[in-house]
Amino acid sequence: MEALTIDISKAFGFVPKEDIYDLSEKAVNSIKALEKKTGKGNDFVGWVSLPSSISDIELRDIEKTAALIRKQVEAVVVIGIGGSYLGTRAVAETLSHSFLHLRKNRKNPIVLYAGQNMGEDYLNELMETLDDLKYAIVVISKSGTTTEPAIAFRILKNHLEKKAGRAVARELIVAITDAHKGALRSTATQEGYKTYVIPDDIGGRYSVLTPVGLVPLAIAGIDIRALVKGAIDMEKLTDSSIPFGENPSCLYAAARTALYRSGKKIEILANFENKLHYLAEWWKQLYGESEGKEGKGIFPASVDFSADLHSMGQYIQEGERLLIETVISVKETSSKLLIPKDKNDLDGLNYIAGKRVDAVNKMAELGTMLAHVDGGVPNLRIEIPRLNEYYLGQLLYFFEKACGISGYLLGVNPFDQPGVEAYKKNMFALLEKRGYEEETKKIKSRI
Ligand code: PA5
Repeated sequence: MEALTIDISKAFGFVPKEDIYDLSEKAVNSIKALEKKTGKGNDFVGWVSLPSSISDIELRDIEKTAALIRKQVEAVVVIGIGGSYLGTRAVAETLSHSFLHLRKNRKNPIVLYAGQNMGEDYLNELMETLDDLKYAIVVISKSGTTTEPAIAFRILKNHLEKKAGRAVARELIVAITDAHKGALRSTATQEGYKTYVIPDDIGGRYSVLTPVGLVPLAIAGIDIRALVKGAIDMEKLTDSSIPFGENPSCLYAAARTALYRSGKKIEILANFENKLHYLAEWWKQLYGESEGKEGKGIFPASVDFSADLHSMGQYIQEGERLLIETVISVKETSSKLLIPKDKNDLDGLNYIAGKRVDAVNKMAELGTMLAHVDGGVPNLRIEIPRLNEYYLGQLLYFFEKACGISGYLLGVNPFDQPGVEAYKKNMFALLEKRGYEEETKKIKSRI
């Protein structure tokens, strides 16, 4: 089995190797705490053994639902926000054709997103587009009461019912939510939608391998069995029996923690395959929500290279020396393209004629790493063999496990997110929601 690898050697010039290896015992103990459910937030660690506990029956059921929907539609709208949205988008955008929406004779439905923002123009433009498409809806909310997806679902449910009729709409809506509670569960029961359950012990940002990700991804034509298989293999490669120096999640968590303690407060996740853009968005939520609390935590940011070398590259090379750069490197592309020879060579590129575009990309990657290390930015390098379901499954689980370990090394509960409630309270007070009368009075006196 080929696997993801991590190289932390370009951190050693910034923190002594011993500072990283000194964390080995704590890192392995953190995994034990995750496995035995004895650490902070222990009621939300269902994701730790999730990959190996997904049954064939569950996968077959999801594949059956996906097949039924796929043959009826040209598009699927995934309604959700945060952990109920980013995992699907990360995998779908990494593995789908970059120009799927412009291609004729598509094999797979286009995946569209709603409920991740409240832009009125966005929703109107989405509905204008859906007027001309046969589509299904997958609505996802663990709480079943989150405002953004609830608004989007109310609007799109109306749209689909008007377009296809209520009976057909019912067949084209799948709801993924809590087993018993929440407004979405009530609607789903009343309307008779096909539903899937989000387990109680798995929080949103760790839920991509539950039906939250697997159902929409299967509809999008992603091989969810290979995705799960990759995660199962990474579950084994990162369990507490693996020695620290051979456990990629431990090495990553310990390296970034030692760098943080040495004053590096910002971690940039960089890619040279821009299809990974949303993987980085998913990673930002995972680490930002898990670590950013109690006045602590690395600030996660991301860049798409080489595009962002022509914008953020300047800051990374010469700005405040607070940065860690973590690069996701993809060893092999899925296709090949050679740079052609040109008889006039007016652009001066004949010196690389005959080379693959990826060979040039790889030299940009190597040159960037060396330049940024020279400029004072430690580099952590994660390499995956290829962009496919199996290796993405490995990568997702690798990051989840490392995030749990990092949170424990930081001393926080990596599975709660109390800070996201503050804006909601203010928004409800400003909207004069029932039950918020006191807050409404208080907030109005401030504006
Ligand atoms: O990680 C989390 O728990 C959050 O990002 C949630 O996923 C997000 O707020 C959406 O919540 P819900 O699924 O309850 O609508």
